[in-house]
Amino acid sequence: MESSIYLIGFMGSGKSTIGQDVAKILDYQWVDLDHYIEENEKASIKVLFEQYGEDYFRTLEAKTLKSLITEKKWVVSTGGGVIVRPENIELLKSQNTFYLKWDFDTLYKRIAGDRARPLVKSYEQLQELYFAREKLYERSCSSMIEGEGKSIQEISEEIIHRMEKRDENSSY
Ligand code: S3P
Repeated sequence: MESSIYLIGFMGSGKSTIGQDVAKILDYQWVDLDHYIEENEKASIKVLFEQYGEDYFRTLEAKTLKSLITEKKWVVSTGGGVIVRPENIELLKSQNTFYLKWDFDTLYKRIAGDRARPLVKSYEQLQELYFAREKLYERSCSSMIEGEGKSIQEISEEIIHRMEKRDENSSY
């Protein structure tokens, strides 16, 4: 098992927590795309959105994702909107990309009132965003994991199990 793993999904889907867990178990390097951008730009996501706008952030996000794609043995936790740029969909679907899928109400409970996330607004606005993005996550992933009713540990194990199966199948 050499190739990197990408985690995608809506805000609050556990991409960072699960990413760290999977990286630890596999002894891979973990990177959170948002933190990586924040470090490079020396500014928070909130500030980048407020000062330069969402489009500027999306361009940085796309450039950063592209720059990481050749890395091996990395677990990359992406930001929830990475799938809005078509070039990212193309990149992600050619990788081991896991879509962490949850019901909207579960996600809403986790992210409501989070001031660090610039796109967290009303229930209705978030729900609209969720439904608009669902198909994009499906299109970008190589594997989808239903999170409802599962613990973080169970989800991590499922990702690792699917990676092992993928390796078994590709060795024939
Ligand atoms: C965003 C999700 C955030 C962050 C930014 C935009 C989105 O990441 O990239 O606030 O468009 O859904 P998380 O999914 O880690 O919250």
